[in-house]
Amino acid sequence: MTDLETNLSALEGRLTAELAGVADERALEELRVRYLGRSGEVTTIRRGIGALPPQERPNAGKVINAAVERMESALAVAVHRLGNAQLESQLSETIDVTLPGPPARTGSIHPIRRVMQDVGRYFTRLGFAVLQGPEIETDANNFDALNIPPDHPAREGLDSFYLRPDLVLRTHTSPMQVRAMRESGPPIAIIVPGKAYRRDAVDARHLYQFHQVEGLMIGSDIHFGHLKGILTGMMRELFGPNQEVRFRPSFFPFTEPSAEIDTTCPGCAGSGTRGDATCRTCGGSGWIEIGGSGMVHPNVLREVGYDPEKVAGWAFGCGLERFAMVRYEMNDIREFVENTPSFLEQTA
Ligand code: PHE
Repeated sequence: MTDLETNLSALEGRLTAELAGVADERALEELRVRYLGRSGEVTTIRRGIGALPPQERPNAGKVINAAVERMESALAVAVHRLGNAQLESQLSETIDVTLPGPPARTGSIHPIRRVMQDVGRYFTRLGFAVLQGPEIETDANNFDALNIPPDHPAREGLDSFYLRPDLVLRTHTSPMQVRAMRESGPPIAIIVPGKAYRRDAVDARHLYQFHQVEGLMIGSDIHFGHLKGILTGMMRELFGPNQEVRFRPSFFPFTEPSAEIDTTCPGCAGSGTRGDATCRTCGGSGWIEIGGSGMVHPNVLREVGYDPEKVAGWAFGCGLERFAMVRYEMNDIREFVENTPSFLEQTA
Protein backbone atom coordinates (compact mmCIF):
# COMPACT_ATOMS: atom_id res chain seq x y z
CA MET A 1 0.00 0.00 0.00
CA THR A 2 1.32 3.43 -0.92
CA ASP A 3 1.56 6.20 1.63
CA LEU A 4 -1.27 7.90 -0.16
CA GLU A 5 -3.55 4.88 0.19
CA THR A 6 -2.61 4.51 3.85
CA ASN A 7 -3.47 8.15 4.50
CA LEU A 8 -6.77 7.92 2.66
CA SER A 9 -7.90 4.78 4.45
CA ALA A 10 -7.02 6.34 7.81
CA LEU A 11 -9.07 9.37 6.79
CA GLU A 12 -12.01 7.20 5.79
CA GLY A 13 -11.73 5.31 9.08
CA ARG A 14 -11.90 8.54 11.04
CA LEU A 15 -14.84 9.81 9.04
CA THR A 16 -16.76 6.57 9.59
CA ALA A 17 -16.11 6.72 13.33
CA GLU A 18 -17.19 10.34 13.53
CA LEU A 19 -20.30 9.72 11.45
CA ALA A 20 -21.47 7.08 13.89
CA GLY A 21 -21.61 9.70 16.63
CA VAL A 22 -23.35 12.41 14.62
CA ALA A 23 -26.75 13.34 16.02
CA ASP A 24 -27.97 16.19 13.88
CA GLU A 25 -27.73 17.71 10.45
CA ARG A 26 -25.52 20.57 11.50
CA ALA A 27 -22.84 18.23 12.86
CA LEU A 28 -23.07 16.24 9.66
CA GLU A 29 -22.56 19.30 7.49
CA GLU A 30 -19.60 20.27 9.60
CA LEU A 31 -18.04 16.85 8.96
CA ARG A 32 -18.62 17.15 5.22
CA VAL A 33 -16.83 20.51 5.14
CA ARG A 34 -14.01 19.28 7.32
CA TYR A 35 -13.33 16.21 5.18
CA LEU A 36 -14.51 17.03 1.66
CA GLY A 37 -14.81 20.83 1.62
CA ARG A 38 -12.57 23.12 -0.42
CA SER A 39 -10.04 23.49 2.36
CA GLY A 40 -10.83 20.10 3.89
CA GLU A 41 -8.63 17.12 4.56
CA VAL A 42 -9.04 15.55 1.09
CA THR A 43 -7.97 18.81 -0.54
CA THR A 44 -4.82 18.76 1.57
CA ILE A 45 -4.09 15.24 0.37
CA ARG A 46 -4.75 16.23 -3.28
CA ARG A 47 -2.26 19.05 -2.96
CA GLY A 48 0.31 16.44 -1.96
CA ILE A 49 0.09 14.81 -5.42
CA GLY A 50 2.66 17.24 -6.76
CA ALA A 51 5.20 15.99 -4.23
CA LEU A 52 4.86 12.36 -5.31
CA PRO A 53 7.35 10.55 -7.53
CA PRO A 54 6.24 11.13 -11.19
CA GLN A 55 5.32 7.48 -11.83
CA GLU A 56 2.84 7.49 -8.95
CA ARG A 57 1.02 10.71 -9.90
CA PRO A 58 -1.37 9.42 -12.66
CA ASN A 59 -2.84 6.82 -10.36
CA ALA A 60 -3.06 9.08 -7.32
CA GLY A 61 -6.00 11.12 -8.71
CA LYS A 62 -8.01 7.97 -9.33
CA VAL A 63 -7.29 6.58 -5.87
CA ILE A 64 -8.32 9.86 -4.26
CA ASN A 65 -11.52 10.14 -6.33
CA ALA A 66 -12.51 6.59 -5.40
CA ALA A 67 -11.99 7.39 -1.72
CA VAL A 68 -14.01 10.60 -2.08
CA GLU A 69 -16.82 8.62 -3.63
CA ARG A 70 -16.85 6.17 -0.72
CA MET A 71 -16.82 8.98 1.79
CA GLU A 72 -19.65 10.77 0.01
CA SER A 73 -21.78 7.68 0.05
CA ALA A 74 -21.01 7.18 3.77
CA LEU A 75 -22.22 10.75 4.30
CA ALA A 76 -25.36 10.07 2.25
CA VAL A 77 -26.12 7.02 4.37
CA ALA A 78 -25.77 9.14 7.49
CA VAL A 79 -28.06 11.82 6.06
CA HIS A 80 -30.65 9.16 5.44
CA ARG A 81 -30.26 7.66 8.90
CA LEU A 82 -30.64 11.07 10.54
CA GLY A 83 -33.76 11.82 8.48
CA ASN A 84 -35.36 8.58 9.62
CA ALA A 85 -34.47 9.15 13.22
CA GLN A 86 -35.92 12.63 13.08
CA LEU A 87 -39.15 11.41 11.52
CA GLU A 88 -39.47 8.71 14.10
CA SER A 89 -38.97 11.08 16.95
CA GLN A 90 -41.60 13.40 15.48
CA LEU A 91 -44.02 10.53 15.14
CA SER A 92 -43.56 9.49 18.70
CA GLU A 93 -44.12 13.10 19.75
CA THR A 94 -47.63 13.15 18.31
CA ILE A 95 -48.64 9.50 18.57
CA ASP A 96 -48.10 7.76 21.85
CA VAL A 97 -49.37 4.35 20.90
CA THR A 98 -49.59 3.36 24.54
CA LEU A 99 -52.21 6.04 25.32
CA PRO A 100 -55.85 4.98 25.19
CA GLY A 101 -57.52 6.37 22.08
CA PRO A 102 -60.03 9.21 22.33
CA PRO A 103 -63.43 7.74 23.19
CA ALA A 104 -65.69 7.42 20.18
CA ARG A 105 -68.66 9.75 20.28
CA THR A 106 -71.63 7.46 20.27
CA GLY A 107 -75.29 8.25 20.32
CA SER A 108 -77.43 7.67 23.35
CA ILE A 109 -80.96 6.50 23.83
CA HIS A 110 -83.41 9.37 24.12
CA PRO A 111 -84.92 9.64 27.62
CA ILE A 112 -88.43 9.17 26.23
CA ARG A 113 -87.43 5.99 24.46
CA ARG A 114 -85.66 4.75 27.56
CA VAL A 115 -88.82 5.19 29.63
CA MET A 116 -90.81 3.56 26.84
CA GLN A 117 -88.46 0.56 26.89
CA ASP A 118 -88.77 0.20 30.65
CA VAL A 119 -92.55 0.30 30.48
CA GLY A 120 -92.54 -2.16 27.57
CA ARG A 121 -90.22 -4.55 29.40
CA TYR A 122 -92.53 -4.60 32.42
CA PHE A 123 -95.70 -5.26 30.44
CA THR A 124 -94.25 -7.85 28.09
CA ARG A 125 -93.07 -9.72 31.17
CA LEU A 126 -96.71 -9.81 32.28
CA GLY A 127 -97.81 -11.15 28.90
CA PHE A 128 -99.15 -7.91 27.42
CA ALA A 129 -98.71 -7.34 23.70
CA VAL A 130 -97.11 -4.09 22.56
CA LEU A 131 -99.01 -2.45 19.69
CA GLN A 132 -98.40 0.67 17.70
CA GLY A 133 -101.04 2.55 15.81
CA PRO A 134 -101.39 5.29 13.22
CA GLU A 135 -100.76 8.86 14.27
CA ILE A 136 -103.25 10.00 11.65
CA GLU A 137 -106.55 8.72 12.92
CA THR A 138 -110.16 8.96 11.84
CA ASP A 139 -112.14 11.25 14.04
CA ALA A 140 -114.55 8.33 14.36
CA ASN A 141 -111.87 6.28 16.16
CA ASN A 142 -110.32 9.19 18.00
CA PHE A 143 -113.67 10.49 19.31
CA ASP A 144 -116.97 8.79 18.34
CA ALA A 145 -116.06 5.22 19.14
CA LEU A 146 -114.67 6.44 22.46
CA ASN A 147 -118.01 7.89 23.43
CA ILE A 148 -116.79 11.45 22.97
CA PRO A 149 -119.82 13.40 21.75
CA PRO A 150 -119.70 15.72 18.72
CA ASP A 151 -120.03 18.82 20.90
CA HIS A 152 -117.03 17.90 23.10
CA PRO A 153 -114.49 20.77 23.19
CA ALA A 154 -111.63 18.45 22.14
CA ARG A 155 -113.37 17.98 18.82
CA GLU A 156 -113.01 21.62 17.92
CA GLY A 157 -110.27 22.56 15.53
CA LEU A 158 -108.84 24.81 18.22
CA ASP A 159 -107.82 21.84 20.35
CA SER A 160 -106.95 19.22 17.73
CA PHE A 161 -105.01 19.14 14.49
CA TYR A 162 -107.53 18.28 11.80
CA LEU A 163 -106.07 17.19 8.45
CA ARG A 164 -109.53 16.77 6.89
CA PRO A 165 -112.99 17.02 8.41
CA ASP A 166 -112.77 13.27 9.13
CA LEU A 167 -109.04 12.89 9.86
CA VAL A 168 -107.14 14.12 12.87
CA LEU A 169 -103.67 13.74 14.35
CA ARG A 170 -104.65 11.49 17.22
CA THR A 171 -105.10 13.50 20.41
CA HIS A 172 -104.38 10.47 22.58
CA THR A 173 -103.43 6.80 22.16
CA SER A 174 -106.92 5.68 23.21
CA PRO A 175 -108.22 5.10 19.65
CA MET A 176 -105.92 2.07 19.64
CA GLN A 177 -108.26 0.56 22.26
CA VAL A 178 -110.93 0.61 19.58
CA ARG A 179 -108.68 -0.76 16.83
CA ALA A 180 -107.36 -3.57 19.06
CA MET A 181 -110.81 -4.62 20.21
CA ARG A 182 -112.20 -4.61 16.68
CA GLU A 183 -109.23 -6.65 15.54
CA SER A 184 -109.64 -9.43 18.06
CA GLY A 185 -112.14 -10.69 20.60
CA PRO A 186 -111.58 -10.71 24.34
CA PRO A 187 -109.48 -11.39 26.31
CA ILE A 188 -107.16 -8.51 25.50
CA ALA A 189 -104.03 -7.30 27.25
CA ILE A 190 -102.12 -4.63 25.34
CA ILE A 191 -100.09 -1.52 25.76
CA VAL A 192 -99.69 1.13 23.07
CA PRO A 193 -96.74 3.48 23.33
CA GLY A 194 -96.71 6.31 20.84
CA LYS A 195 -97.08 9.93 19.88
CA ALA A 196 -100.14 12.10 20.35
CA TYR A 197 -100.87 15.66 19.25
CA ARG A 198 -102.77 18.59 20.69
CA ARG A 199 -102.92 22.22 19.68
CA ASP A 200 -101.22 23.48 22.80
CA ALA A 201 -99.03 26.56 22.86
CA VAL A 202 -95.46 25.45 23.62
CA ASP A 203 -94.20 26.30 27.09
CA ALA A 204 -92.26 24.61 29.89
CA ARG A 205 -95.06 22.08 30.39
CA HIS A 206 -96.61 21.71 26.93
CA LEU A 207 -95.58 20.52 23.51
CA TYR A 208 -97.96 20.00 20.61
CA GLN A 209 -96.44 16.56 20.11
CA PHE A 210 -95.92 14.28 23.09
CA HIS A 211 -95.91 10.61 24.03
CA GLN A 212 -98.36 8.42 25.84
CA VAL A 213 -98.61 4.82 26.75
CA GLU A 214 -102.07 3.35 26.65
CA GLY A 215 -102.97 0.19 28.52
CA LEU A 216 -106.01 -1.99 27.98
CA MET A 217 -107.07 -5.21 29.63
CA ILE A 218 -110.39 -6.86 28.81
CA GLY A 219 -111.69 -10.19 30.07
CA SER A 220 -114.51 -11.79 31.97
CA ASP A 221 -113.46 -10.96 35.54
CA ILE A 222 -111.31 -7.89 35.17
CA HIS A 223 -111.74 -5.21 37.83
CA PHE A 224 -110.21 -2.01 39.18
CA GLY A 225 -108.02 -3.90 41.63
CA HIS A 226 -106.11 -5.42 38.72
CA LEU A 227 -105.49 -1.95 37.37
CA LYS A 228 -104.14 -0.72 40.66
CA GLY A 229 -101.87 -3.74 41.05
CA ILE A 230 -100.50 -3.48 37.55
CA LEU A 231 -99.94 0.28 37.73
CA THR A 232 -98.20 -0.11 41.07
CA GLY A 233 -95.88 -2.64 39.45
CA MET A 234 -95.23 -0.28 36.56
CA MET A 235 -94.30 2.55 38.91
CA ARG A 236 -91.99 0.27 40.89
CA GLU A 237 -90.31 -0.81 37.66
CA LEU A 238 -89.70 2.84 36.77
CA PHE A 239 -88.99 4.44 40.13
CA GLY A 240 -88.16 1.73 42.65
CA PRO A 241 -89.75 -0.67 45.13
CA ASN A 242 -91.39 1.87 47.44
CA GLN A 243 -93.80 3.37 44.93
CA GLU A 244 -97.48 3.41 45.75
CA VAL A 245 -100.39 4.32 43.52
CA ARG A 246 -103.62 6.11 44.41
CA PHE A 247 -106.73 6.94 42.41
CA ARG A 248 -108.69 10.19 42.43
CA PRO A 249 -112.19 10.20 40.98
CA SER A 250 -112.31 11.90 37.60
CA PHE A 251 -114.17 11.89 34.32
CA PHE A 252 -113.41 10.55 30.86
CA PRO A 253 -116.18 9.86 28.33
CA PHE A 254 -114.74 6.43 27.53
CA THR A 255 -114.39 5.09 31.08
CA GLU A 256 -116.84 4.70 33.96
CA PRO A 257 -115.87 5.02 36.71
CA SER A 258 -112.84 7.13 35.85
CA ALA A 259 -109.84 8.04 37.93
CA GLU A 260 -106.69 10.12 37.79
CA ILE A 261 -103.64 8.11 38.73
CA ASP A 262 -101.12 9.46 41.23
CA THR A 263 -97.92 7.83 42.38
CA THR A 264 -95.55 8.50 45.26
CA CYS A 265 -93.26 11.37 44.34
CA PRO A 266 -89.86 9.76 43.64
CA GLY A 267 -88.18 13.13 44.32
CA CYS A 268 -89.04 13.11 48.06
CA ALA A 269 -90.22 9.51 48.55
CA GLY A 270 -93.66 10.89 49.29
CA SER A 271 -92.66 13.14 52.18
CA GLY A 272 -93.24 16.42 50.34
CA THR A 273 -89.95 17.86 51.55
CA ARG A 274 -86.37 17.62 50.45
CA GLY A 275 -83.85 18.68 53.04
CA ASP A 276 -85.47 21.72 54.59
CA ALA A 277 -87.29 22.76 51.45
CA THR A 278 -90.55 21.87 49.79
CA CYS A 279 -90.01 19.15 47.16
CA ARG A 280 -89.80 20.79 43.73
CA THR A 281 -90.98 17.70 41.89
CA CYS A 282 -94.38 17.39 43.57
CA GLY A 283 -94.79 20.87 45.02
CA GLY A 284 -94.99 19.42 48.53
CA SER A 285 -97.93 17.05 48.14
CA GLY A 286 -95.82 13.90 48.08
CA TRP A 287 -97.72 12.67 45.02
CA ILE A 288 -97.40 13.20 41.32
CA GLU A 289 -100.09 12.79 38.71
CA ILE A 290 -99.20 10.38 35.95
CA GLY A 291 -102.33 9.86 33.87
CA GLY A 292 -105.95 8.91 33.52
CA SER A 293 -107.69 5.58 33.83
CA GLY A 294 -110.96 3.83 34.41
CA MET A 295 -113.20 0.89 33.61
CA VAL A 296 -113.93 0.80 29.88
CA HIS A 297 -117.34 2.42 29.28
CA PRO A 298 -120.11 -0.01 28.21
CA ASN A 299 -120.77 2.21 25.18
CA VAL A 300 -117.21 1.64 24.01
CA LEU A 301 -117.50 -2.12 24.50
CA ARG A 302 -120.76 -2.14 22.55
CA GLU A 303 -119.26 0.01 19.82
CA VAL A 304 -116.65 -2.67 19.06
CA GLY A 305 -119.16 -5.50 19.30
CA TYR A 306 -118.37 -6.70 22.80
CA ASP A 307 -121.11 -7.59 25.27
CA PRO A 308 -120.76 -5.43 28.43
CA GLU A 309 -122.71 -8.07 30.34
CA LYS A 310 -120.04 -10.68 29.59
CA VAL A 311 -116.75 -8.79 29.60
CA ALA A 312 -115.29 -5.86 31.44
CA GLY A 313 -111.95 -4.18 31.44
CA TRP A 314 -109.85 -1.24 32.37
CA ALA A 315 -107.80 1.25 30.42
CA PHE A 316 -105.20 3.81 31.32
CA GLY A 317 -103.22 6.46 29.52
CA CYS A 318 -100.00 7.94 30.90
CA GLY A 319 -97.69 10.66 29.60
CA LEU A 320 -94.17 9.43 28.94
CA GLU A 321 -92.71 12.93 29.11
CA ARG A 322 -94.07 13.09 32.64
CA PHE A 323 -92.27 9.89 33.63
CA ALA A 324 -89.03 11.07 32.09
CA MET A 325 -89.26 14.54 33.65
CA VAL A 326 -89.71 13.05 37.08
CA ARG A 327 -87.01 10.47 36.56
CA TYR A 328 -84.42 12.94 35.24
CA GLU A 329 -85.62 15.82 37.45
CA MET A 330 -86.36 18.13 34.54
CA ASN A 331 -88.56 21.16 34.73
CA ASP A 332 -88.83 22.11 31.06
CA ILE A 333 -90.49 19.71 28.64
CA ARG A 334 -88.90 21.51 25.66
CA GLU A 335 -85.56 19.91 26.48
CA PHE A 336 -86.84 16.67 24.97
CA VAL A 337 -86.98 18.17 21.51
CA GLU A 338 -84.08 20.60 21.57
CA ASN A 339 -81.49 17.89 20.91
CA THR A 340 -78.81 19.41 23.12
CA PRO A 341 -76.03 16.80 23.34
CA SER A 342 -75.17 17.72 26.94
CA PHE A 343 -78.76 16.96 27.93
CA LEU A 344 -79.09 13.79 25.91
CA GLU A 345 -75.74 12.43 27.07
CA GLN A 346 -76.89 12.51 30.69
CA THR A 347 -79.12 9.56 30.05
CA ALA A 348 -76.61 7.63 27.92
N1 PHE B 1 -106.85 9.27 26.81
C1 PHE B 1 -106.81 9.94 28.07
C2 PHE B 1 -106.02 11.23 27.92
O1 PHE B 1 -105.28 11.36 26.98
C3 PHE B 1 -106.20 9.10 29.16
C4 PHE B 1 -107.03 7.87 29.46
C5 PHE B 1 -106.75 6.70 28.81
C6 PHE B 1 -108.01 7.90 30.41
C7 PHE B 1 -107.48 5.56 29.11
C8 PHE B 1 -108.77 6.79 30.71
C9 PHE B 1 -108.49 5.62 30.07
O2 PHE B 1 -106.07 12.11 28.76
